[in-house]
Amino acid sequence: MEFTIRPASRGDELGVVAAVKTVYDEYGFTWDPEDYHADLYDLEAHFGNGAAILFVAEDGGGILGCAGLETFPTVEGPVGEVVHGSPLPRIAGTDCEFLRLYVQPTARRRGLGAALVEHVLQEAVQRGCSRMEIWTDKRFVDAHRLYQRYGARIVGERICDDPDVSPEWGMILEL
Ligand SMILES: CC(C)(COP(=O)(O)OP(=O)(O)OC[C@H]1O[C@@H](n2cnc3c(N)ncnc32)[C@H](O)[C@@H]1OP(=O)(O)O)[C@@H](O)C(=O)NCCC(=O)NCCS
Repeated sequence: MEFTIRPASRGDELGVVAAVKTVYDEYGFTWDPEDYHADLYDLEAHFGNGAAILFVAEDGGGILGCAGLETFPTVEGPVGEVVHGSPLPRIAGTDCEFLRLYVQPTARRRGLGAALVEHVLQEAVQRGCSRMEIWTDKRFVDAHRLYQRYGARIVGERICDDPDVSPEWGMILEL
């Protein structure tokens, strides 16, 4: 299957929401348009501000998946240690975060996930970032393998503030 990857822009909301919600339905997770998923309904506000970017993977039929990056001042503390953050624990020494990696079930195992990861890592390097944090639901074992293939390692855990209070692994990736 041919696919392309590009930065998301205004107008992609419906496609992005449909792709991500399919994955939430697959796992039986709670969809929360008002809060936890509000960023996907207003891409311009959340990913058009210079500090964050969302990439989408698509083919002729529409959006199949996405992945994002957010940059920020380096989290203070000993590198790789999980430290107190507001509202959630963070990983010290990181200056960017990998966000919202999802590929629709019917489009998997064709390289979209890897291509999305590579776009996000390349973007982070271009922006001068040095260490990335990745918080990933403990049930997303396929994603853990993918991240580890690019050098990410688990350094801690936390409970997310999503509606399902999901247990997450915290990973760090040296860029
Ligand atoms: C994790 C996820 C994004 C991976 O997406 P994907 O598009 O399937 O990723 P890829 O195709 O790049 O790689 C998946 C596997 O297919 C394999 N693969 C890639 N192209 C292939 C091809 N042409 N033929 C056969 N296998 C292939 C990869 O080697 C990889 O193998 P692995 O199972 O040994 O790790 C997807 O499974 C997903 O959305 N999962 C649910 C949500 C999730 O976990 N999100 C993470 C949030 S932190």
